[in-house]
Amino acid sequence: MSLHPELTKALKKILAGGYLDAPEDLRSYSCDMFGRGLPQAVGLPESTEQTAEILALARRFETPVTPRGAGTSLTGGPVPLRGGLVLGTARMNRILDLSPGDRIARVQAGVVTGRLQQAVLEKGLFYPPNPTSADYCTLGGNVATNAGGASGVKYGVTRDYLTGLTAVLAGGEILATGGRCMKDVAGYDLTRLLCGSEGRLAVITEARVRLLPRPEAVRALSAYFGDLKATAEAVAAIMSAGFAPCTLELMDRAFLEAVRRAYDFQFPPEARALLLIEVDGPAEAVNGQMAAIARLLQGQGAFAVSVAADEAERQILWRARRGGTAALVRQAAFMVSLDYAVPVSRLPEAVARMGDIGRRHGLKVVMIAHAGDGNLHPMVIYDPADARQAAAYAAFEQDACRAILDLGGTLSGEHGIGMEKAGLLDRQLSPAFLRLSRGIKRVFDPAGLLNPGKCEDACGGHE
Ligand code: LAC
Ligand code: ZN
Repeated sequence: MSLHPELTKALKKILAGGYLDAPEDLRSYSCDMFGRGLPQAVGLPESTEQTAEILALARRFETPVTPRGAGTSLTGGPVPLRGGLVLGTARMNRILDLSPGDRIARVQAGVVTGRLQQAVLEKGLFYPPNPTSADYCTLGGNVATNAGGASGVKYGVTRDYLTGLTAVLAGGEILATGGRCMKDVAGYDLTRLLCGSEGRLAVITEARVRLLPRPEAVRALSAYFGDLKATAEAVAAIMSAGFAPCTLELMDRAFLEAVRRAYDFQFPPEARALLLIEVDGPAEAVNGQMAAIARLLQGQGAFAVSVAADEAERQILWRARRGGTAALVRQAAFMVSLDYAVPVSRLPEAVARMGDIGRRHGLKVVMIAHAGDGNLHPMVIYDPADARQAAAYAAFEQDACRAILDLGGTLSGEHGIGMEKAGLLDRQLSPAFLRLSRGIKRVFDPAGLLNPGKCEDACGGHE
């Protein structure tokens, strides 16, 4: 089914070459790493003003709009579940201002995060949020999901760097929040409300982000362990000893095996897990902390503890971490990359329980974690077309969710709720929380046209 002919005509006039409705285009914009659903058309606006015109039309024709960054998401966030228009930010890809004096960058939503990181480094500054998909994902998508990544342990997540947003409300009104000030408490914090709202409250078209000075040095260390639980315990030991790593990543043996097959990455045969640890700051302090962390790790049973000699060695470790997920996906019919977070002291138990639950249901669970901030990604490989495996996964998901909540954890640390976790949301959030969430959604989007069918739309928990 296509859009109303009058709507199509108006959209083509606004968007010219940025209007797509060929079947192959619709397919390209139908999916992310988790789900699938065909739009009726795709719009790629070049500006906030064009976006506003499109959202005014969408309200007039009661057409759903699903915003989309680069589609690297893992929960079905940008998948159009009710058809309508996918609104992609790919052509809003300019860094509008990069000001070392104010330590602020103003960027359009479609700027690739890695490009911003690089541009900022060249000015001697630093944008710390570092999602694994930084080379492909967009700032707008990062804001929409409040993306985190490997640097969260020291630097926090996207939300911690936002000073303001430009967004278009359902119906087409333009909203600016915050600004260029480091401090700003005028009014409710709508910047933070929109951050992590998964395209359901407004379409984000611009972000202003805070920048830090570029650290003088960063060094990486790798340490192998013969036991997964001991690895997670070493993480808790590093954190409680008061070190300040800027990266503290855990990868289990199954993940390393996939990396070995894809990239010829070598690791000791008796290894059950790898920790990738980085420290940044003044060079002398970095070297001191690296040596102290290495000693602590040896006391925790690590072997083959090694500090990367140079940037090339450091990048080998990062290629393993960044490329491993794709290497695993290539070997599987389907893989869900789950995302939970627990208080870091509970990480050893969380990691152990995920493995136990997987074994109980006969499923292969691969484990990686942004371990330093308690954010774990159990990755489950199964074939959804096989009824027995699909049932096993459904049972796994229920048990895993219960275990994480029992440990004082959360159902998502950084990927968001989207389609994947919507049905489970009321396990974590109270009826009062969900009532307010639905009220906020109605205030922003009374006709329910923005990214419908996800998050609190698709969970129980009604009072
Ligand atoms: C990662 C994604 C799965 O950390 O969040 O690689
Ligand atoms: Zn992650």
